[in-house]
Amino acid sequence: MIQLSPRLAAVARHVPAGRPFADIGTDHAYLPVHLVQSGRVPRAVAGDLLPGPLQAARATVAAAGLADRIDVRLGSGLTVLAPGEAPCVAVCGMGGPLIARILAEGPLAGVERLVLQPMGGEAQLRRWLADNGWRLVAEEVVEDGGRLYPVLVAEPGRMGLTRMEEEVGPLLLRQGGPLVVRYVDEKLELARRALAGASRSDQPAAQERAAQLSELVELLARALRICAGDR
Ligand SMILES: C[S@@+](CC[C@H](N)C(=O)[O-])C[C@H]1O[C@@H](n2cnc3c(N)ncnc32)[C@H](O)[C@@H]1O
Repeated sequence: MIQLSPRLAAVARHVPAGRPFADIGTDHAYLPVHLVQSGRVPRAVAGDLLPGPLQAARATVAAAGLADRIDVRLGSGLTVLAPGEAPCVAVCGMGGPLIARILAEGPLAGVERLVLQPMGGEAQLRRWLADNGWRLVAEEVVEDGGRLYPVLVAEPGRMGLTRMEEEVGPLLLRQGGPLVVRYVDEKLELARRALAGASRSDQPAAQERAAQLSELVELLARALRICAGDR
């Protein structure tokens, strides 16, 4: 059976058992192959925009002998799916803004759960979810090869988000714990470095950016105290 990295294993744990599944931006199709091999889902669609990854996905599916249960499709985002074909859709390993664009392009009719694993830019993704009728039902931070990755699970519903919740995640903020503290600390460090860079310029655009970053630094410092239990 295909062994998943800790990052993709965390994604797999949020896929409901017994129902069809779609992995959008599948690359090597490790996630859908693992889920079908393990018996967690009966069948899957593996979609990718590019012919190279699609070929890699076909090779993994063929080597696993699962071509009759995993359909590999070329195309952008969820456009490769028929309406209602997959109640759970994963979009992982891409930037948050790109994931949000893929979701906006749809179609999302019939999708009951999204499992998303953004590589940065998750504030924009959370904002898109809140603005478009999705609510977060689970969030976690997973460590893989020394790096931290957020996993976001959303279902149709309403969700209000403060700026801090947008940046850190409403559920992560409540959960706290050592990985969440590290996740917020890394964000804070990045924001501080960006602020130092922007502050060196006297261009009006850089000054405006510095003001935004200064607000972000202050917000993340407060979030860090909350996550560390130092409210
Ligand atoms: C870095 S890989 C991630 C692979 C896997 N999902 C993971 O998390 O390990 C990103 C994949 O998304 C695909 N991709 C990018 N934009 C896409 C889109 N609009 N629709 C479908 N796939 C896309 C790329 O071709 C690439 O194979």
